[in-house]
Amino acid sequence: MRVRVLGAGAGGGLPQWNCACPGCRCARQDAARAKARTQDSVAVSADGSRWIVLNASPDIRVQLASCDALWPRAERGAPMAAVVLTNADIDHCAGLLSLREGSALSVHATQSVRGAVLEGNSLCRALSSVAWHTLEPSRSDAIAGLSIRPFCVPGKPPLYLEGIAPPRDEDNVGLAVTDEENGRTLVYAPSVGGITQELMTELSSADCILLDGTFWDGDELVRAGFSTRCAADMAHVPISGAQGSLAALAELTRPRRVYTHVNNTNPILLEDSPERAAVTVAGWEVAWDGMEVRP
Ligand code: MLT
Ligand code: MN
Ligand code: ZN
Repeated sequence: MRVRVLGAGAGGGLPQWNCACPGCRCARQDAARAKARTQDSVAVSADGSRWIVLNASPDIRVQLASCDALWPRAERGAPMAAVVLTNADIDHCAGLLSLREGSALSVHATQSVRGAVLEGNSLCRALSSVAWHTLEPSRSDAIAGLSIRPFCVPGKPPLYLEGIAPPRDEDNVGLAVTDEENGRTLVYAPSVGGITQELMTELSSADCILLDGTFWDGDELVRAGFSTRCAADMAHVPISGAQGSLAALAELTRPRRVYTHVNNTNPILLEDSPERAAVTVAGWEVAWDGMEVRP
């Protein structure tokens, strides 16, 4: 299986249009210290010819243009067999609107994610040519030579539905993607509100994991004065701290471990930061746009 990170940034990307925090400044002016990153998306393929795109970010147009494996080979018709959504956050689904030009697109999402995208969104009537397929937590679906099995991960409804839609377990899923030929498995979980036993089981049986690396610290947005919301309010487990993912997953040594969906405020984006050194020493990598992994 081939796994290509199309975008390793969280919502807003790096640099974010309205931000001049140290990470955003470096990404604009000193790329050797921090590579720019588009918003969270991953392409996976069993055979290098048919691809599945996991999450359709608002940056999808540039992401597809910068990955030749995903260029159309016929006059019309891209090698993208399907899009699979892990939740209905803007950074994961707004790119669908850029994929509306004529091709019949297959989109796989849980019922609650599909409802969030479509219901009450008159703009999404533009997606009338999409063939929607329902993802059922714990059920494997065979798509383009890969088996895709969603599993519920602590999360929340998208920000634009908070307080409107009642939270449901299937608002947010991780994906276990298995190559049917050799059994190798990628687990992709870019939004993780807490590390449950179920998630631990999924991660420990994977060959490679692409995990929520949004925040270094639970209150980095608050300390920077950017928000009143902590990582916990946004359903992202931070990397550092006693409850953080680095400590919680310290025993996990089998899979290749990669942080993705990294927010622009997260100091691990700075190549020379002590926080980057700490994750590297612990055996983690930090995803970048164009990174290829073969689980
Ligand atoms: C998140 O990852 O928490 C969301 O993308 C935030 C947002 O929708 O802005
Ligand atoms: Mn996000
Ligand atoms: Zn910034």
